[in-house]
Amino acid sequence: MADKAKQLKHIAFIMDGNGRWAKKRLMPREYGHKVGAETFRKIVEYCRELEVEAVTVYAFSTENWKRPENEVKAIMSLFNQYLDFAIKEMMEKDIRIIFLGNKSVFPPELRERMEKTENDSKNNKYILNIGINYGGRDEIVNAVNECIKDGITTITEDDISARLYTKDSPMPDLIVRTGGEYRISNFLMWQSAYSELYFTDILWPDLSPKDVDDAVNAFKNRNRRYGGV
Ligand code: IPE
Ligand code: IPE
Ligand code: MG
Repeated sequence: MADKAKQLKHIAFIMDGNGRWAKKRLMPREYGHKVGAETFRKIVEYCRELEVEAVTVYAFSTENWKRPENEVKAIMSLFNQYLDFAIKEMMEKDIRIIFLGNKSVFPPELRERMEKTENDSKNNKYILNIGINYGGRDEIVNAVNECIKDGITTITEDDISARLYTKDSPMPDLIVRTGGEYRISNFLMWQSAYSELYFTDILWPDLSPKDVDDAVNAFKNRNRRYGGV
C-alpha cells in the first residue's frame, strides 16, 4: 500500500457531511464538527503513514460564514483547540502546516497563532494545507492582485501558480469529497484542472483509513492523459 501511495504526491479532501452525520444521531450539527475534527486528525496521521508529500483539507470556506452564528462559533472554537496541540503533533511527525485563505478576517490573536504555527513548522518535510476562510476564486483573485503589486503587466499561468496559497505544494493528484455531493464548492479551482476526483457517500466523521485506501486504489486505476492520447 505504502509503495503505491508514493506515486500520489498530493491528496486533498473536501471534508463534507458533518452536519448530516450529527442529524442522523439526533445531535446538534456542532457535535458533527467535533467528531469531524477527530476524523481529520486520524486521516492526516494515516496520510503521513502513507508518506504522501502534501495533504490539503477544506475545513471552512469563504461561503461558510453564511451559516448560523452558533455553528460558525463552534467551528472556530474547534479550530482554536486544534491549534493548541497542532504544533507539537506536527513537529513530531515532520509536518509543515500552511493555512490557505485570507487570514485578515480573523482576530489578531488567532492570526498570530496561525502564523506562529506556520513559522515554527516551516522546515518540516511533509505539507498539511488547511483551508480556513478558503475559496478557490478568492485565491485566484489574490494571486492576480499579487502579480499587479509585483509590477507584472502580462500575467502567465506560472505567475499565478507561484502566488497561490498552495504555492509550496505540487498540484493535487487526487481530490476526495465525502458526504455524497458531487461538486467542487469553490475548492482548489485553479489546481484541480487535472486532478482525479473521487466522490463517496460516506459522511466525513465516518471516513476511515480503509476508505482512504479505496480512494487511493481507485486513483491507481485511473488513466491520466492530461489532454494527450
Ligand atoms: C463539512 O460538513 C464541514 C464544513 C463545511 C465546515 P457540513 O457542515 O457541510 O455538513 P453537511 O454537509 O451539512 O452534512
Ligand atoms: C464545502 O462544503 C466546504 C467545506 C467542506 C469546508 P459545503 O457543505 O460548504 O458545500 P456546499 O454548500 O454543499 O456546496
Ligand atoms: Mg456540507
